[in-house]
Amino acid sequence: MNYSNLLIENRERILYITINRENKLNALNKATLAELHDVITGSAHDEEVGGLIISGAGQKAFVAGADISEFADFNADEGRELAREGQIKVFDVIQNHSKPIIAAINGFALGGGLELALACHIRVAASGAKMGLPEVSLGLIPGYGGTQRLTELIGKGRAMEMILTGDMVNADDAYRTGLINHVYEPENLLNMAAELMKKILTRSPFAVSCAIRAINAASAEGINGYETEISEFSNCFGSDDFREGVSAFLAKRKAEFRGK
Ligand code: COA
Repeated sequence: MNYSNLLIENRERILYITINRENKLNALNKATLAELHDVITGSAHDEEVGGLIISGAGQKAFVAGADISEFADFNADEGRELAREGQIKVFDVIQNHSKPIIAAINGFALGGGLELALACHIRVAASGAKMGLPEVSLGLIPGYGGTQRLTELIGKGRAMEMILTGDMVNADDAYRTGLINHVYEPENLLNMAAELMKKILTRSPFAVSCAIRAINAASAEGINGYETEISEFSNCFGSDDFREGVSAFLAKRKAEFRGK
């Protein structure tokens, strides 16, 4: 697939996905979501990819939301379809991806843009970033998982306030509430996100995938997360990575994991 709304680059096993609609503040239109689905699903089986970093083009925005112009005249059924298709094809795919995904929030992350970041496994932001779910100002509510993932991440009371007021929070407030893990100077954002990813990539890819599944199980409906942890823990014992990790430790050498 040829991407007209994304810039894609693989450097040192990190797939950098830059949403590239700068003149629309990288708003997520249908075409961009389809491209995200394609590149993110494809990366799961690409042995050259260890992890993904998602960012937005330019200095101003990560993603300023779903593209409002595309759903301006939607009815209830079309609205339902928009949310369901987006959640299944993009946002859930990111959350359940076997490889780590970091959102590097370089400016406005609003509406669907913040929801995109919320679906990622880890969020870091530039000091000037602004984050919010302003849908109620449009007569809507978040539809790409924002009511669920924000609540899970920062707690019900804070999520209520952010969603009901539609107010934006700055990077320091987002850090304080656990919405993001780190705040960096804008010029260092991508490098620092890459440093974080590189550290993860030195660990067992097999175990990292198991950990993502177990952590996701904490909030998955109808699933006992403790049972998932037991099962994923057990899976690790059957992996080459486990044998390599333990023998490297005992031999006092650096482990060389193959993700199997
Ligand atoms: N959907 C579609 N287009 C969008 C967009 C969105 N979510 N967010 C920004 N844009 C477009 C603007 O329409 C404008 O396009 P134009 O130049 O063709 O008129 C361009 O991006 C620049 O945005 P602009 O509003 O002029 O920039 P600003 O600096 O004045 O304001 C924001 C920046 C982020 C505060 C403002 O763009 C905004 O509020 N965006 C919508 C945020 C939102 O409600 N998101 C949730 C959607 S569900």
